Amino acid sequence: MSIPIYTYDAIVVGAGLAGCAAARELQNAGKKVAVITKLHPLRSHSGAAQGGVNAAFSDEDSIELHEFDTVKGSDYLADQDAVEFMCKNAPETIRWAERMGAAFSRTPDGKIAQRPFGGQSSPRACYAKDRTGLTLLQTIYEQAHRSGVKFWDEWYAADIIYRDGKVSGVIAFNIRDMKMAIFNAKSVMFATGGYARSYKINSNAHANTGDGLSIVARHGLPLEDMEFVQFHPSGLSGNGVLISEAARGEGGRLFNSKGERFMEKYAPNAMELASRDVVSRAILNEIREGRGVGPRKDAVFIDVTHLGKELIMERLPELRDLAITFLGLDMIKEPILISATAHYSMGGIPVNIAGNVRKNNNTLVEGFYAAGECSCVSVHGANRLGANSVLEALLFGRYVGKTMVDEVDAIELRVATQEDAQTAVDEINNILSNNGTETVPKLREELQDTMTANAGAFRTKETLEIVIAKVKELRQRYKNIRIKDKSKLFNTELQEAIEFGHMLDYSAFIVESAIARNESRGAHFREDFDTRNDEEFLKHTMGYMNKDGEISLEYMDVVLGKHELRARTY
Ligand code: FUM
Repeated sequence: MSIPIYTYDAIVVGAGLAGCAAARELQNAGKKVAVITKLHPLRSHSGAAQGGVNAAFSDEDSIELHEFDTVKGSDYLADQDAVEFMCKNAPETIRWAERMGAAFSRTPDGKIAQRPFGGQSSPRACYAKDRTGLTLLQTIYEQAHRSGVKFWDEWYAADIIYRDGKVSGVIAFNIRDMKMAIFNAKSVMFATGGYARSYKINSNAHANTGDGLSIVARHGLPLEDMEFVQFHPSGLSGNGVLISEAARGEGGRLFNSKGERFMEKYAPNAMELASRDVVSRAILNEIREGRGVGPRKDAVFIDVTHLGKELIMERLPELRDLAITFLGLDMIKEPILISATAHYSMGGIPVNIAGNVRKNNNTLVEGFYAAGECSCVSVHGANRLGANSVLEALLFGRYVGKTMVDEVDAIELRVATQEDAQTAVDEINNILSNNGTETVPKLREELQDTMTANAGAFRTKETLEIVIAKVKELRQRYKNIRIKDKSKLFNTELQEAIEFGHMLDYSAFIVESAIARNESRGAHFREDFDTRNDEEFLKHTMGYMNKDGEISLEYMDVVLGKHELRARTY
């Protein structure tokens, strides 16, 4: 039976903030656009962003300070032209979202309220209580829907159609019944989100399995700066669920088992509001040196009790609920237990400021775009500042949508054929028919345990070699899996098996890129090379995977600018 072919001007994969914002631009410009998403749009991980979205609005703040904080936060690896573009357009982006209906919290005189966040010179994070991402996602999704965007939700994008430097569609299947379709289009945008699920303790949705990155990498296209994985300082102890930086922004304090406010040692000026990499390493160091708290001594306290019930209920209600639900602790009355959690990926699919995907340092892929966490533009460099990710997704999602509007009419549709779906069909049939002895949950657990122990906030050559060997072993064992569910109805076991293949591929990029970077920069902390080495490593890593899964690395220049390299202290 032949696979149906649907034809569009543009296909967007992913329905978080970046995907919805781009799709709305395309639809409003009269283009025929569809969004493919493996979730209902409102379950996209953008909705989990809690604390805020940055824009330099206030009289005490400026675009230039926002740029400076972002570049310093990035440990100077961010491309300064992209940072300038983002910071300059941030205030207008917030007003745009507000005009569409996003209900931000307000100051008593009616302005959009802003709170302090780590590594920032001024209170800059505009917020909606501690549900900022959800508020924005509801708004942008509603507006995209209203403008007539067609959403193919609970459809799983399994492959792209890529030949001769050009992308001309997406192969996807309906999760409900496994029926496949070919989405033929002049242009395709990936907004497929992040990939911290390869770590055991993480703040990410179960869906964040890095599908988009691995699909791209399997076609020999590069992934950039994959070694930079952000550990957020405050995940709930035991499960990593996010306790927003807003808790520290509003005045929360960190304590170890001796009752010491230990950030005094690590960042005497900024204290709990140093940048995330600094605070996460401080927490993990306290735990490693035996000053952890909780039954397993693997956490520290965050205390917000001094803020009082009224402020907590007004600005941090979601966080309080989470701590009660998962730990049985009420932050109005007592400190709660937190530790660092894998949270965000600075690296991803390399794009230029306009959102065009790079084929290599000098060439772009025709008809292919990316924005949001799956992409690397790069505004975050080696470490992202809190509240810059919601901004990046919203702002670049919208602007990349505009790029696509401008470029789509000049792109010739390459008509898809049945053969274009063959790789995806084979992948599914192989998994269904395989009768091996391994199970995906077991392999996934081994990957997550190994990544967490050896490729986390602290790494060395030796620990990274352990992961490289583990990934190779798991790739062999993955060929020998068996799934019990052979049905076509909501076969989540099959989906998880496909996703695990993606997790293996992008994890290989993380560790191969990390072992080659013999320095410490931002979130990439090599205990065997514990300082930044601008002479050799002020450059972006570009990783390429061959058909045997081997990764080779090249490097690309960082775009420097007016913010000069300095030692980074807080
Ligand atoms: O802590 C937070 O609210 C997370 C925000 C972010 O990652 O930008």
